Amino acid sequence: MTPALIPPPLSLYVHLPWCVRKCPYCDFNSHAANGTLPFDGYVDALVRDLEQDLPLAWGRTVHSVFFGGGTPSLFPPAAIERILQAASARLRFAPDAEITLEANPGTAEHGRFDGYRAAGVNRVSFGIQSFDDGCLQRLGRIHDSGEAEAAVKLAQDAGFDNINLDLMYALPGQDLAMAERDLERAFALQPAHISHYQLTLEPNTVFFARPPQGIPDDDAAWDIQERCQALLAQAGYGHYETSAYARPGRQCAHNLNYWRYGDYLGIGAGAHGKLTLGAEQSILRRWKQRHPAAWMAAAGSAAAIGGDDRIDPQRRPFEFMLNALRLHEGFALADFEARTGLSRDTLAPALARAREREWLSVTDTRVVPTALGRRFANDVIELFL
Ligand SMILES: C[S@@+](CC[C@H](N)C(=O)[O-])C[C@H]1O[C@@H](n2cnc3c(N)ncnc32)[C@H](O)[C@@H]1O
Ligand code: SF4
Repeated sequence: MTPALIPPPLSLYVHLPWCVRKCPYCDFNSHAANGTLPFDGYVDALVRDLEQDLPLAWGRTVHSVFFGGGTPSLFPPAAIERILQAASARLRFAPDAEITLEANPGTAEHGRFDGYRAAGVNRVSFGIQSFDDGCLQRLGRIHDSGEAEAAVKLAQDAGFDNINLDLMYALPGQDLAMAERDLERAFALQPAHISHYQLTLEPNTVFFARPPQGIPDDDAAWDIQERCQALLAQAGYGHYETSAYARPGRQCAHNLNYWRYGDYLGIGAGAHGKLTLGAEQSILRRWKQRHPAAWMAAAGSAAAIGGDDRIDPQRRPFEFMLNALRLHEGFALADFEARTGLSRDTLAPALARAREREWLSVTDTRVVPTALGRRFANDVIELFL
């Protein structure tokens, strides 16, 4: 018998698309702010966008909210408050919902974090990238290391104890000792969570067109990764996803929901959503128009929707694995069935091949990537294409 699709936990993603300036390595939907930003108009458009998507999520509870960007900390606390009030008036929020706001240390001002907390934000994610001023300059960042530390302290003084620091490694001009020092300075701030990303050269960025000098080669990057993983473990940060490390109980609930093939509404310019529609037994992906001004003008109308795509059953195993195999915990076969509407038997040939290669360990109830499987993650996922 084919298992039924059962709607998984629901999250809400809110995209705020502006930055002080565009970083040369960044391919996110983010745009340099020229002049004053239309905060009120953007919030009005978010509310129209949410209203349009509401029928996709009737009666469901929101377990996490993520303000991503761009640089959400460019928005004043009153704007963030208005968005959260509008959302909680239209959707039921779990009492312990995790509400994260991404912040750029170069936009931190005294008083702002008190405002975000009063608005309901309970987690802050800082784009630190490095504590080395030379590296920060080569990355085109607007902040220096002193401002980074000061910003984190401001948030802590405002009462935030659930803080993530984004760091990147394999940076232009960075050696192993410098990458270690970045982590030591991060540990000194005692964040609950650290995201540690290898710098990648993304198409359509300045770095892709003109790669900077001094990027560590693959062997050097691998040495940095291995050494940093060991340092993070020693400092008490559990490695739970490809690039994510957390103190016990401090994993990011919002990202975990993505990786567990959960559902999310996505509102704002270029935002993506994924919704399981129980009544019609389908999975819908919906994305919004990318350009902020065009999206704002169209928000709430059909023209704001960049596309709607129903995920055929054949594509679901690959999509599921692309997310779930990033997690060290792997996944429960029962969750695979509930979230894809497919029998676990459809996985049997690929699981058998992955077991032969010692990439996955498989029991009657769970599938967990081995250390080898994590190293060859792309090859493992391809087995499910
Ligand atoms: C959307 S940004 C959010 C933070 C905020 N906009 C900032 O940069 O301060 C999310 C994170 O992705 C990481 N990131 C962005 N571009 C990357 C790249 N090309 N390679 C690796 N990590 C990248 C950075 O660590 C960044 O903080
Ligand atoms: S501040 Fe963040 S989102 Fe904005 S351009 Fe830089 S990396 Fe991208």
